Amino acid sequence: MQAAPSIPGPAIEAVIADRLRPFGTTIFAEMTKLAVKHNAVNLAQGFPDFDGPDFIKEAAHAAMRAGQNQYARTTGLPVLSSAIAEQWRARTGLSADPDAEVTVTSGCTEALAATFLGIINPGDEVILFEPFYDSYRACIAMAGATPKFVALRPPPTGTGEFTFDQEELARAVGPRTRAILVNTPHNPTGKVYTRAELQVVADLCLRHNLIAITDEVYEHLVYEPALPHVSLATLAGMAERTITLSSLGKTFSLTGWKIGWAIARPGLTAGVRAAHQFLTFATATPLQAGAAEALKHGSAAIAELAAMFRGNRDYLCSALRELGFAVHIPAGTYFIMADHSAISRRLGMRDDREFCVHLTEKVGVAAIPPSVFYDRAELGRSLARFAFCKKRATLEAAVQRLRKLSA
Ligand SMILES: Cc1ncc(COP(=O)(O)O)c(C=O)c1O
Repeated sequence: MQAAPSIPGPAIEAVIADRLRPFGTTIFAEMTKLAVKHNAVNLAQGFPDFDGPDFIKEAAHAAMRAGQNQYARTTGLPVLSSAIAEQWRARTGLSADPDAEVTVTSGCTEALAATFLGIINPGDEVILFEPFYDSYRACIAMAGATPKFVALRPPPTGTGEFTFDQEELARAVGPRTRAILVNTPHNPTGKVYTRAELQVVADLCLRHNLIAITDEVYEHLVYEPALPHVSLATLAGMAERTITLSSLGKTFSLTGWKIGWAIARPGLTAGVRAAHQFLTFATATPLQAGAAEALKHGSAAIAELAAMFRGNRDYLCSALRELGFAVHIPAGTYFIMADHSAISRRLGMRDDREFCVHLTEKVGVAAIPPSVFYDRAELGRSLARFAFCKKRATLEAAVQRLRKLSA
């Protein structure tokens, strides 16, 4: 067969719709590419460098061998929907009807997209706390809506918990506001919202008839008994107006499986499902079977992982502090935000991007420049985000290299 003759015409390069043009390539892909190029220890992207538990993988293999390889029910494999509802009840005391109030999605990323596309109208406003996980803003743009930002700030002097100004949050609510998104435990600051902070959000939602969207993918990765993870839906009046999103990836070190979910009352679930059915229709069947096993029998594995990450957090926080960073110790997640000002001043670096590129190229450790997670980029310029979801040997190799900074 002969190749079709090529017809000369204008070259087609990077055809990207206007609404997505501002977002470029995600910083995770960018920094990982740089890390690979310079053979750097990658503490940039938040995925473990070890595998998830065998019993979960075995359950997925068994499902595959048993012929569970066709489309799943669009709202989720019944056994997984039930396991999600059961662990929700066990953790929060709230009941969720697995058929009417749980929707299985392809990761929390799809749950976020289905939520924004399913319940937000063009012209609506959505309140985000900055820094924010980067997909929120892109999803809001895809829904034709507008984000409004409220800053999470570290204490004005020294290190400690990031928090927000209640007045700033109240001022962000306007006539077009439809929803507030809360990510707790919070990426990238490691903040775990207190019940009192969540009450401030709840009061605004109730007063202005807003929907709350919560991203709780790090729900099990919390390290301070005094700061337990609280779901916004458990506050009085909030179960009716909250869409709670989470996923399997962080909890079981299976980020590549992309199994997530949305829990909400039937009225809000209707919106999520209206979009979900056309985004992915259904999520990989055998992986859903594996995920059900994880949720039913995973509590020991979760406790083991959280203990390991707590040790990693303590190790990396004290190493970074010794090297001259001002470290905001995270109460949850697997990220550390560290202020690099003292070091970058010495090295003549102007901002987080310059610092993180230097770190990757010259020191051999990749970190994320967090100004990309802010609307007001200046709020993140003095910070760098390090991931500690790695083997201890990986963190030790990183610290060894970071010592060059103080040489
Ligand atoms: C805050 C937050 N939300 C959502 C996600 C994406 O979750 P998933 O991998 O389940 O799509 C991530 C992953 O890094 C995250 O940090």
